Amino acid sequence: MIQDTKTHDSLRPIRWFEDHLQLLDQRILPQLVQMRDYEDVLEVARAITDMVVRGAPAIGITAAYGVVLAARSHFAQDAGNWQQTIQADLETLENSRPTAINLAWAVNRMKAVMADITSGDPVPRLLEAAQKIHADDIAANYKMGELGAAHIAADSGVITHCNAGALATGGYGTALGVIRAGFSRSKISMVYADETRPWLQGARLTAWEMVQEKIPVTLIAEGAASYLMKQGKVSWAIVGSDRIAANGDVANKIGTYSLAVVAKRHGVKFMVVAPTSTVDMATADGDNIPIELRSEDEILRVGGNAIAPDGARAWNPAFDVTPAELVDIIVTERGIVTNPTLKKMQELMAK
Ligand code: MRU
Repeated sequence: MIQDTKTHDSLRPIRWFEDHLQLLDQRILPQLVQMRDYEDVLEVARAITDMVVRGAPAIGITAAYGVVLAARSHFAQDAGNWQQTIQADLETLENSRPTAINLAWAVNRMKAVMADITSGDPVPRLLEAAQKIHADDIAANYKMGELGAAHIAADSGVITHCNAGALATGGYGTALGVIRAGFSRSKISMVYADETRPWLQGARLTAWEMVQEKIPVTLIAEGAASYLMKQGKVSWAIVGSDRIAANGDVANKIGTYSLAVVAKRHGVKFMVVAPTSTVDMATADGDNIPIELRSEDEILRVGGNAIAPDGARAWNPAFDVTPAELVDIIVTERGIVTNPTLKKMQELMAK
């Protein structure tokens, strides 16, 4: 893995290696640390659906590289017509997961670059565009890390939900970027990580990421968050987002809404950290954000073994929406919005 100049910044889940894409397989962490190779766009789309790669910015970056692979193959098959023949693959890519707006955002950015290519091999220009999306995401995370950490008092405990770390982005992370920056400045003494049922991103990914970076982490069942807060152990809840609506409502991993409610009850501040590629001004509010429903088996089984009786059903929304009124600050690379409203979000996006 690539080492960067920031401290506590050793993980990169996505890599363009020579002539193809490599993804760190997040389904098998923390037991196995394994990069997988991708040369075909439909395999990339499947990797997003199956959560080899997950986290809103990371799937956007992955999709951008997927467009490069698609263009290479369609240009090789029909150099005069590749811009038409590629369209069905781009649609499959865009539909590989529904909630994170970064996916459509990245594919649309790549389509705009495609539209400017009138002749010749499209791959060099598209690869350059994908690499820029990737590099910009890491730069945004560094910026958000600084901005968010400035709001945290020395020696604080913080709680996070799911994994909004290096693994969910190009690198460094959104919520975990703030935590990395805060820890480097002695502002954070302990990170409490919700285990995050059913996919266990908190246990398998966030705890692993923190251990890799030597940042102290304590794992809790998410039902323990309110009791933890009652004991005064945390001053901030810090989370990422998959889509922020125009009014500041925030879609994120299922359970984020509960965390925000109990944070409000206990006077714990609630911080959402996300790049502006996660902001969707075309969606008025959280009620209009599509929420992914995943398979019942993710609830009914753990590691392939049944944990519920035959005949029980399960309901498995992968995300929920935290109303803007429960959010104290949204941190983006363009700046911070406190107590978000439509007007404040419009001002941010106009910057
Ligand atoms: O289902 P996942 O693992 O893709 O969900 C990820 C999250 O909900 C993250 O918190 C969110 O994408 C922010 S990642 C920087």
